[in-house]
Order: sequence, then C-alpha cells, then structure tokens
Amino acid sequence: MSSKFYHPLFRVYTFHSPTRVVFGVNALDRLVEELKKFDPKTALIVSGKNVCKTEGYSKISKMISSVCPVMEFNEVSPEPGSSLVTKLAEKASEAKPSLVIGIGGGSSLDMAKVASVAAANEKDPLSYFKGEPITKRGPPVVTIPTLSGTGSEVTPISVVVDKGKKLALSHPFLYPSLAVVDPTLSVTASPHSTASAGIDALCHAMESFMSLDSTPITESLAFEAMSLSDEYLERAYSNGEDIEARAGLSLASLLAGMAFLNTGLCLAHGIAYTFAVKCNLPHGVSVAVAEPYVLEFNAPAIPDKLDVMAAAFGIDTEGASPAETGNAIAMRLTEIMDTLNLPLGLEELGLDEKDLEPMVDDLINNYSRFLVKNPRKPSREDLVKLYQRMFEGYW
Ligand SMILES: [Fe+2]
Repeated sequence: MSSKFYHPLFRVYTFHSPTRVVFGVNALDRLVEELKKFDPKTALIVSGKNVCKTEGYSKISKMISSVCPVMEFNEVSPEPGSSLVTKLAEKASEAKPSLVIGIGGGSSLDMAKVASVAAANEKDPLSYFKGEPITKRGPPVVTIPTLSGTGSEVTPISVVVDKGKKLALSHPFLYPSLAVVDPTLSVTASPHSTASAGIDALCHAMESFMSLDSTPITESLAFEAMSLSDEYLERAYSNGEDIEARAGLSLASLLAGMAFLNTGLCLAHGIAYTFAVKCNLPHGVSVAVAEPYVLEFNAPAIPDKLDVMAAAFGIDTEGASPAETGNAIAMRLTEIMDTLNLPLGLEELGLDEKDLEPMVDDLINNYSRFLVKNPRKPSREDLVKLYQRMFEGYW
C-alpha cells in the first residue's frame, strides 16, 4: 500500500466486525466442530431452489444433520420480495430454531438473517425494514456462501424488494455469528452469476475506500479487495474451476464486506437502486453500470485516495492529475466489465432518456442515505449530468 498517510494524525476511529470467520479451501471440513460450539437443539437451513439441488448443499445438510435435527426453507430467489419474507417468517416463527444457517448467494444469507429476527420477534418482518425497532435478538446465524460478492456473510444487512423499491435493514442483531467461507463451493457458479456477484465485491471495495468514513483499517481491507478482484475476477469468469481465482474472489468479497460494513457505501449503490428493479438487473450489475461515472464525479474530491486506489489496480499515476487518475481507474473497471460481458450504459439497458430525471428524483427522495458518505456532494443538476453520461455510455 502507498506510504502516503493522509489521515489527520489525531483522528479517533472505531472498527467492528464481530463475525467469526473460517476461511479457506476445504474450510467446510471444520463445519461440524464449529456448529457443535453452538450446542444447537434444532437448525433451520435457509437456501434457494437451485442451490438446494447441488452436491455441495447435500454435503452441508448431512453435516448439519449430524449435529442436530434440521428444518429447511429452500425457496429463496434472487432479489427476494415481501411475499417470500412473509412465508419465511411463518416458517421461522413456527420452527423456533436455535440456529439459522444460510447457504447460497447474498439473498439466501440475507434471508437467514430475517429468519433469525422473525424467530424471536412477533411483528410483520417487513415492518422492521420500514423502521419498526427489533426488540429481541434471534438465534445465531451461520453463513455459508456459495457465491462470492455481496459480503453478506459478514454484514448485519438484509435487502428485500417491496413494491418495486429496495428496502435495506441494518441492525446489530443481524450480524452472523459464524461465516464458513469455502471457495470450493463457488466453482459450480455460472459465469454470469460469478460476474454479477464478483463485480459487487469490487464496487463495495471502491465505494468503501472513497467513503468519508474510511479509516486506515477499512482502507487496508478495501485495497486488498480491489487488488484481488483486479487479479481474479476475470479469471474466475473465464474458468470457473480455477480454484486460485475462486479463493481470491471469496477473499475479496469477505474483505470488502468487512470494510463497507464499517464505512457505508457511496453514490453508485444509491444510483443502482433507481433502475435495478425496473431493468430486472442483478444487484452487482446495476452497481457496476454506475461505478465508473461515480468515480469520475468523485475524482476531484479524493486526489490522495485515487493514487492508492490506482496502485491497487497496478496503474502508474506518476504525474497524472486527479481527473486523469480517476479516468484511468474507471477505464480499468470498464475493461473488466467488458470482459465479463456486463452492460456499460443505461441506453443499453433499454431505458429511455425521459426516464432519467424521474430516476434522479427517486435517488434524492428514496436513496439519499447513499449520498451521506459520498466524498463529493452532488447537486440535482450534477446528478442529471451524471445520469446523462451513464445513459450515453461514455466509458
Ligand atoms: Fe452491493
């Protein structure tokens, strides 16, 4: 990492990441002994329709069954909606598990956290996404990701879609107690899923690094996550069985998750929320479409950070202005997106120019929380210009 130290010397900061992590190729071999530490009476597995048919899933469920009786909820779909949340909550409050285990991509892990909340709290689980306080801590949550990207394995965050809007719940009771991250579980993920989840991890790292709340601790994590994504994302996409690349991506997802749960995310995640549902886009893809433009917009506000970010991508910035460095990083990001066959602009997604201003208003009215940590505050006019560039697909 760059030797440049640009934080005020007497700044005091905190860092929190309470999830116990067991990481590595064949980490699953430790699952039984780790689960026994919870001394569970019953476990509820929360997973998706496709994942539950895999060999990996049956291996894991057998291991869990050797520890305690198991109940299963295998109906999680990507971008879960309110009806799924209600169904899952019914199952969790009936079952009253002493442990909840999420197996799958980010949505399954997010829903495992909801199951834990629903097992201990009586109100409609969707109400907690709308500000109702959670009063009781639910059973511990164990996360076993089968796809790298969201960082949900370590974050206290859950996201659902309700009436076309994304609602996020972040609460200390949602922190997973244990994450077992075994990269071998992700080798069967399709190239498209690998790309859309993997690019999310890279964007988390970039936004965490740019965040006003970044610290030397989170920047170290985010730097490593950017560097790993730069090296391994395209490799994992081209050859899913490249275990070194899978391990690199799994680590990138984990580190980026640990970074952004402390710093929050920036403008690109907010922008993505204004078109992801409408365009039926996987979360990571929607964020990636916005990221190069946000980087370009933020560049003048973060000259020192840009030099370090560029180093994570192996870009030489000797003598370059902040705008040139921002451009160089944005170009590398779009090069990665191109390799992964991801869209590079809003027009490509079938949106119309007249949709842009309503999206800007949607961002300001519903997702302004993503503006709080952004290092440069955009005016409405700035946002209209930014959306215009995203529409044209400048990069
Ligand atoms: Fe994300």
